[in-house]
Amino acid sequence: NWTMDDFIKLSVDSIREEVGDANVILGISGGVDSSVTATLLHKAIGSQLTAIFVDHGLLRKNESEEVMAALKEGLGVNIVRVDAKGRFMSKLAGVTDPEKKRKIIGNEFVQVFNDEAKKIKDAKFLAQGTLYTDVIESGTDTAHTIKSHHNVGGLPEDMQFKLIEPLRQLFKDEVRVLGEKLGLPHDLVWRQPFPGPGLAIRVIGEITEEKLRIVRDADAILREEVKNAGLQESIWQYFVALPGMRSVGVMGDGRTYDYAVCIRAVTSIDGMTADFAQIPWDVLQKISVRIVNEVKQVNRVLYDVTSKPPATIEYE
Ligand code: XMP
Repeated sequence: NWTMDDFIKLSVDSIREEVGDANVILGISGGVDSSVTATLLHKAIGSQLTAIFVDHGLLRKNESEEVMAALKEGLGVNIVRVDAKGRFMSKLAGVTDPEKKRKIIGNEFVQVFNDEAKKIKDAKFLAQGTLYTDVIESGTDTAHTIKSHHNVGGLPEDMQFKLIEPLRQLFKDEVRVLGEKLGLPHDLVWRQPFPGPGLAIRVIGEITEEKLRIVRDADAILREEVKNAGLQESIWQYFVALPGMRSVGVMGDGRTYDYAVCIRAVTSIDGMTADFAQIPWDVLQKISVRIVNEVKQVNRVLYDVTSKPPATIEYE
């Protein structure tokens, strides 16, 4: 009878044996997989692990703080948060093409990570939150594709790491159970999928501080109301996107010309196909009223009723 406790014990033993007294580094993007990997490694080797949290400034409201509170303050994981917002924003300034935006973010992530990794002495191992599904998708067991956002490429020749991937045998649901067993908060390990490039692919076209503020604040209201309605476990993914379109509205005595935001909510099994979620009208109404009242420069709220295919879940 295989249990998660057995898994933890075996993993901890084998990590200790493999690592010896060397140091291990791990890139954290804010997602579940890397957070659970960090927690497991911390249990096995304590301060021999340095987790590098590259905060690109494209996370949801309070997300960066929540990750730090859970991992560093909560569990004592040795984690360094690098505030790289400025670096990412200046690279992204004026860029509108979706693929270019993704590429810039991926490259910058690797560079920020490498700059930090160089400071860590005797780091012989690089840990990654690769899951079983990642291993299968890559085709062969050994030549696994490294997930772009946890990926570290382009390291200098003299920095050759051995890979450690302690979640390689697990499915997502098992990773979440493992995370909870290791003491991570329920809300953190069960949260909805969030793309590596973050809010950058939910602000369509050029990214500005103002647009990020709008998406972040409107998204926080959506999440709060979905939770209040008890729907957070039945909707696979729900978020606000900013199409960048402005339209005329009326507020008080005056005419406005402000942004529209779009609510995207889908049900899905694996993200490959999806149906738009049927959020009850009264919940949508509450969300709409709150967004327009509380988020400056928004005067219209749209609801996306397209499934995947033909649309994708994200907007870029
Ligand atoms: P699409 O938009 O392709 O999204 O229908 C399917 C699922 O994948 C997530 N997604 C990403 N996740 N890095 C990630 O880690 C990415 O670049 C990325 N792009 C999309 C998306 O949130 C959805 O769950």
